[in-house]
Amino acid sequence: MRIYDIIEKKRDGYKLTKEEIDFFVQEYTKENVEDYQASALLMAIFINGMDEEETVNLTESMAKSGDMLDLSAIDGITADKHSTGGVGDKTSLVVAPICASLGIKMAKMSGRGLGHTGGTIDKLESIEGFNVTLDTDDFFKQVNEIGISIIGQTGNLAPADKKIYALRDVTATVGNISLIASSIMSKKIAAGAQNIVLDVKCGSGAFMKDEQSATELAEMMVKIGKKCGRNIAAVITNMDIPLGSNVGNALEIKEVIDILNNKGDKQLRELCLVLSATILSISYDWTYEEAYKKAEQTISDGSAYKKFIEFVNAQGGNSDFTTLPVAKKSLEIKAVKDGYIQSIDSRIVGESAVLLGAGREKKTDTIDYSTGIVLYKKTCDRVSVGDTIAILYAETDERLKNGEKLFNTSYVIGEEMPEILPLIYKTIR
Ligand code: URA
Repeated sequence: MRIYDIIEKKRDGYKLTKEEIDFFVQEYTKENVEDYQASALLMAIFINGMDEEETVNLTESMAKSGDMLDLSAIDGITADKHSTGGVGDKTSLVVAPICASLGIKMAKMSGRGLGHTGGTIDKLESIEGFNVTLDTDDFFKQVNEIGISIIGQTGNLAPADKKIYALRDVTATVGNISLIASSIMSKKIAAGAQNIVLDVKCGSGAFMKDEQSATELAEMMVKIGKKCGRNIAAVITNMDIPLGSNVGNALEIKEVIDILNNKGDKQLRELCLVLSATILSISYDWTYEEAYKKAEQTISDGSAYKKFIEFVNAQGGNSDFTTLPVAKKSLEIKAVKDGYIQSIDSRIVGESAVLLGAGREKKTDTIDYSTGIVLYKKTCDRVSVGDTIAILYAETDERLKNGEKLFNTSYVIGEEMPEILPLIYKTIR
């Protein structure tokens, strides 16, 4: 078999066989296929597409390119939750303790921030002492003992995806449904959980800008999950507006603590409950309504917060959250006219948070965990001149100034009350 023939076949619009896909994935991982050949094939896939069978084959091949976690060492029902990436999305840190406090085993590998979107691992690292690199035995032991562990992805989980994703990122081949679906699902399949819930983001801050493309991506990932023998559901949710009030690592941990203490942003709380209820209802023999009520109960009776504290302590973190880092500098953004907030572009808010120090522009950049944005007004809110729209936090005046300049382009104030967009579009099971 030759990579040249595989590129030519896909260039001409033909379907690739399982053997051809395996050949590409294996040989590219072993560095026997050059980057320029892999780029050509990815562009041919991007333009001519892949059908469901090819997408499933690509997913399985990438999943098998490294370690396949065997979660049979964990007693009980395992579940995983994945978000396609958003701004202010801290739901995993609420959903995992809710589900773990109801007996689900949440063995979760998470990522770091990517571009304008934040990452769960960076957020956890803003807690003093928190260790995100447990070895597999300690990871399983902790999940067996307390029902929850969240660590960074091991180097050898779907290494083919890691290489292919890095290439897609620089060859304008990210935004293809088969490539996104196989990339996400290869890691979920390799991570081993039996029950998987996907939060597919839709809107200005997401890969998928509209409901139709988000639905296509969600349907493809659900089909892949089922073909690979998993229980799976996907919830399509709004990412036109940042999720919750806080964007930035330690600021988001504070918001997680608020939600788990029955306070905080109502939309964030609702999404956390919907995702938790979806996990619980596909994992147990519970109706969605029953699962939702039980999830709510774990917040009101404090059991989810208790689980969160147990989890932070188990991974070496300081659960005296008064030690969370606080930024040296802050700046209030005030409304300059009366009206309604027409929109807040979550992508620009995410990019502003990166400029403030909360994310990385290059892989090697360090993060200032204290920095970010607290939003006091969001889309549809009424504002009068002088009202605080947001407070920006940074470690230096220069960063504050850069963040302010960009943040000021993220929102529009107008006279009419805008249309209220739904938080949840639909669930695909
Ligand atoms: N997240 C991934 O892991 N892969 C993609 O292709 C897009 C988002």
